[in-house]
Amino acid sequence: MAAKLVKRYLCVEDKVFLVTGGAAGVGAGIVRALLAENARHVAFLDVADREGSALELEMLNKFGALRAKFIKCDIADDAQLAAAYKQVVDKYRRLDGVINNAAVLTVDEKTYKRMVDINFSATVSSTMKALDIMDANKGGNGGTIINISSLLALNLGSHLPVYAATKTAVLQFSIAMGTESKVSGNKVRVITVCLGPTDTAILNRNNLENFDKDSSGTVASRVPVRQKVESAVSGILEAISEGKSGSTWIVKNDKPAYDYTEKLLEAFEILSES
Ligand SMILES: NC(=O)c1ccc[n+]([C@@H]2O[C@H](COP(=O)([O-])OP(=O)(O)OC[C@H]3O[C@@H](n4cnc5c(N)ncnc54)[C@H](O)[C@@H]3O)[C@@H](O)[C@H]2O)c1
Repeated sequence: MAAKLVKRYLCVEDKVFLVTGGAAGVGAGIVRALLAENARHVAFLDVADREGSALELEMLNKFGALRAKFIKCDIADDAQLAAAYKQVVDKYRRLDGVINNAAVLTVDEKTYKRMVDINFSATVSSTMKALDIMDANKGGNGGTIINISSLLALNLGSHLPVYAATKTAVLQFSIAMGTESKVSGNKVRVITVCLGPTDTAILNRNNLENFDKDSSGTVASRVPVRQKVESAVSGILEAISEGKSGSTWIVKNDKPAYDYTEKLLEAFEILSES
């Protein structure tokens, strides 16, 4: 019988990663998958204390001591984020990959600034901090930064205007940083992954129904089909493995990840003709 081909992710093996929003949902899936793929260490940042500690214990039991480290951190607080980065670099003496995954989908219009701070500003801040450490022009070892966006960044007229705008901002920022990385020769790849609807708490039915109270049909009913967390995670690993700096990947409908860069560049070319 032919042996089953198992794809190994060489740019994960023996590397040190930092994952934001790693205590639950897609982030927790990424933490588990990186360690299963033999990452040397994975530090994960989150505000969710109980879930973070539980995942750290789960990883300790499965992979042994010191492989996973939960750091309680509100990524929108720059001092906390800087302290978390320092803790990781002091402890592991290197950093090879950062997955900027944490985000919120708030339904309360009074808290939209907080959503912008977490989803966009903290992604910018974390990307800059990661670049500072990894930049080969500044003595770093190079590395990979994955910024998680959404299919909503590619759709006009989203029913979630602020959330969609933060994810569009993440996309534009990451493409620009990734393209600049190639030019500067800093050996850091910056890659965007746009996820389709995925079965996590962010799509909490009650939140979405509240948000949509003024329009016909609930938001929840607009996203009846959600891919499994495992599908989102294996697509993200594929992008880590195969993505060029500045590229954009789509992971939706439980299908393999695909590189959407060419299509997106065509679209941007049309837009810049105006
Ligand atoms: N689930 C989907 O349908 C979907 C679709 C497209 C894109 N995404 C994106 O995928 C990523 C992961 O989302 P998810 O679906 O796993 O959501 P989730 O709510 O399950 O997980 C998000 C995690 O981020 C953490 N977090 C929130 N605010 C934080 C802060 N200030 N500091 C640190 N951690 C914080 C949360 O505690 C949580 O553990 C997000 O960027 C989201 O925008 C999700």
